[in-house]
Amino acid sequence: MIWSCNVCNHLSLGTRGPESCPVCGVPRDQFHEWTPKEHIAGTETEANLTEAFEGKASRYARLLAWSTIAELQGDREAAALFRQRADEDMAHAISHLIRLGVDSDTGANLQKAQDESGNNNRIVYPGYFSVAEDEGFADAGHYFASVGQRELTHSDTYLELIERAHT
Ligand SMILES: [Fe+2]
Repeated sequence: MIWSCNVCNHLSLGTRGPESCPVCGVPRDQFHEWTPKEHIAGTETEANLTEAFEGKASRYARLLAWSTIAELQGDREAAALFRQRADEDMAHAISHLIRLGVDSDTGANLQKAQDESGNNNRIVYPGYFSVAEDEGFADAGHYFASVGQRELTHSDTYLELIERAHT
């Protein structure tokens, strides 16, 4: 189920709304069940949401890394702040994704995940590997090759679940 904040229109997934809104802070009882009403496909709003989603998703990883660095340096306050902001940014990213139209069919999502991992394994990471080799970066090249290989494992495990659903 999708839940929307009555105050700021933040969206979240779950059997009920979040304990408190990660945008405006209101409690769970301020959330109502939501279904898409606006058709944004092909608009600038869709492009902006996509850009915002990518930004939030990458900032999540950056903030987690900064949190770990702060923790290693003994700055617990900064580590906790980065961690909290990372969690909020991930909640925002998911809200953006829902608004862009997330598929509620797990079978279809498994297929998409398998396609993406397969593509990463066959095309994307081998391409990164080649460029790194050409540029003389053996360490980065080996890294790309390893990640690409891991993508094959991801692809295989998705496929396993897909096939199990059809037997
Ligand atoms: Fe809110």
